[in-house]
Amino acid sequence: MSEVVSYELNENIGVIRVNNPPVNALAQVVREGILNAVTEAQNDGSEAIVLACEGRTFIAGADITEFGKPPRDPWLPEVLSAIENSSKPVVAAIHGTALGGGFEVALACHYRCAVPSAKVGLPEVKLGLLPGAGGTQRVPRVAGVKAALEMITSGNPVAASKARDMGLIDEVLGDEDVCAGAIQYAKSLIQSDAPLKRIRDITIDASSIEPDFFANARKQLARRARGQIAQDRIVSCLEAAVELPMDEGLERERELFKELVSSPESAAMRHIFFAERQAAKIKDVPKDTPLRPINKVAILGGGTMGGGIAMCFANVGIPVVMLEINDEALERGMGIIRKNYTITVQKGKLAEDKMEDRIALISGTTSYDDIGDVDLVIEAVFENLDLKKEVFGKLDAACKQGAILATNTSYQDVDAIAEATSRPEDVVGMHFFSPANVMKLLEVVRGAKTADDVLATVMQIGKKIGKVCALSGVCYGFIGNRMLGGYGREAQMLLMDGCTPAQVDGALEGFGMAMGPLAMGDLAGLDVGYKARQARTDLPDDPKLYRMGTLLVEMGRHGQKTGSGFYKYDPETRKRMSDPEVEALIKEEAAKLNIEQRAISDEEILARCFYPLINEGAKILEEGIAQRASDIDVVYIYGYAFPVAKGGPMHYADSVGLKKVYDKICEFRDRYGEEYWQPAPLLQQLAEQGKSFAQWDKERGAA
Ligand code: 3HC
Ligand code: NAI
Repeated sequence: MSEVVSYELNENIGVIRVNNPPVNALAQVVREGILNAVTEAQNDGSEAIVLACEGRTFIAGADITEFGKPPRDPWLPEVLSAIENSSKPVVAAIHGTALGGGFEVALACHYRCAVPSAKVGLPEVKLGLLPGAGGTQRVPRVAGVKAALEMITSGNPVAASKARDMGLIDEVLGDEDVCAGAIQYAKSLIQSDAPLKRIRDITIDASSIEPDFFANARKQLARRARGQIAQDRIVSCLEAAVELPMDEGLERERELFKELVSSPESAAMRHIFFAERQAAKIKDVPKDTPLRPINKVAILGGGTMGGGIAMCFANVGIPVVMLEINDEALERGMGIIRKNYTITVQKGKLAEDKMEDRIALISGTTSYDDIGDVDLVIEAVFENLDLKKEVFGKLDAACKQGAILATNTSYQDVDAIAEATSRPEDVVGMHFFSPANVMKLLEVVRGAKTADDVLATVMQIGKKIGKVCALSGVCYGFIGNRMLGGYGREAQMLLMDGCTPAQVDGALEGFGMAMGPLAMGDLAGLDVGYKARQARTDLPDDPKLYRMGTLLVEMGRHGQKTGSGFYKYDPETRKRMSDPEVEALIKEEAAKLNIEQRAISDEEILARCFYPLINEGAKILEEGIAQRASDIDVVYIYGYAFPVAKGGPMHYADSVGLKKVYDKICEFRDRYGEEYWQPAPLLQQLAEQGKSFAQWDKERGAA
């Protein structure tokens, strides 16, 4: 037998074991090993076959690294056919997660049993794919078309007990070893002379599907999918499951799978799958760095961010103490936390008693005496360096040795904050994004003196609270906010040059951004940027720079909170509407500045807004602020809702071609001036060498 798949007889049960760490992905050797084992079992003394896995999980899917490479035999459908056509019952023994191709292997078996903690799912859509080995044909046959649609288009796994209720699992075992449990189950099948249950033999009653079911599904999914095509193709496969015989349905599924696997969307989403996992690794911090235990956390400041951060820890059962300036502020903070949880309960996403358990984990104080025993402090007080230094001085005096002292600052110098303590090695940035209990990104900011074990611990705790972590060095705005500058600036410059707000936002939303930058400004409050600009001394003295943003604030139009900004908002529904008054004002202002307005294409809008991001990203890379271009992509996908189907700004730049991006930036420099457009030397170098950011990452090696 092969190294990764073993086969042995256990009395009258043939046991196939897959052992391909870390997640038993269906690499070629695994496919071949399973095929050989099933073939061998047809001719030995076994009366039933159990397929089980070693390690932490059942098969977690196809080997994603093989996509985009030439296919190697045997292909997965061939292995599944061998299982399904076995003359002896095959039982899948599921523990951990049976995902994608892994769950499809289980569905080709005649019976499926699972331990209670197991989950099954078809997450292919999250990679811009569809289940390509029968998942779209077998799940609707067992669970019904509606449940299949939900499962496959969401990509979310379901727990063993729910999967049993849906018919996807036959037996939920006790807590015993999964393989032993499955062997017992297989023996009971033999004893009861159970039939060879093949899902392919089930026919879906087409008359049970409402006539407009698929059309409605397509409409709803198109709204959610933001430029992705996989959802639409999944609907086509489910239609085929209803209308066509099994083999033709499988053929249709294969055809559409092939289309998706070679689509730019899927390439982008696979890039992000690996980028996300890479981002958590710090190149010069060894993997086995010992971690500091984190059993209790303090949050300083219970405002917008502090409250959300406290919830992140309470959600995973870690007690939190929230420190505020006075009882009133404390009460307000606790009130917001309760309100946020209540909304989650109302949405049916959290049971009421669970909410109370979580709230009970969060206590409040106004005294530093109460935070002496915590393992981690996250400071989220006002964004003011002197205040932060003062607070860190107090933390230094109050906290036990070894406690990690983190700041959630958006822009302040983490090193200056660290120097306010006698232990700068324990100080680190933990930059959450608003709303902190929802947004997935955590930028981990490494100060000049931050200790390795502090970084390793923060990366690990970040993952534990459900965040995707990326490392940043110290600079103004770190990776994400630093890059954002030119994006917002150009969105407003485009207005002066001839666009309406709706046109700028429309082009970027058409690209896949959840919200265009001007609408985003209205949401965040235009006064925020206005105040920040007033404090800056480095901005060019140029009357067209941020002209509209400034004027609107001075007119009292601060955005959604005042009912108007770049747009006007329906007071009831908050629906945004173009405002002819603003459009006229833009024209007037442009005329005052002698700017000749012109028609501007969507292509130019995208280039003007995104190329500054990419250019700044290149500077961030060459300065070593980000470890990898792919880390920058992770920051933008999870922190700024950049469309995952475009793979992040740096991947997008690669797909456009760095030479083209560089040339365009040079053109903009010549047209709009050097103070705004200065090509990054790294971008120039890669463009001239005909290289991509992905190649740059590769040449520097993985962590
Ligand atoms: N192929 C290749 N490598 C994989 C992989 C896969 N399917 N799944 C995980 N890995 C790798 C990761 O890249 C990571 O590598 P690293 O240690 O070098 O960074 C390692 O395995 C461990 O992964 P995680 O850090 O994600 O481990 P967790 O324990 O946190 O999570 C998991 C485990 C839930 C299984 C998670 O890895 C996961 O969701 N994997 C992807 C599952 C998936 O998408 N399957 C569908 C694939 S497409 C398919 O099957 C097509 C079919 O229909 C034909
Ligand atoms: P906020 O104004 O909503 O909350 C700040 C809270 O800190 C207030 O409740 C205040 O009473 C409290 N506070 C002030 N001084 C204190 C002290 N000495 N001790 C204890 N508590 C004190 O501010 P917000 O938005 O929560 O921001 C906090 C920090 O998080 C800032 O550094 C900000 O830059 C950063 N941040 C903000 C984001 C946002 O979108 N709001 C996003 C990411 C980071």
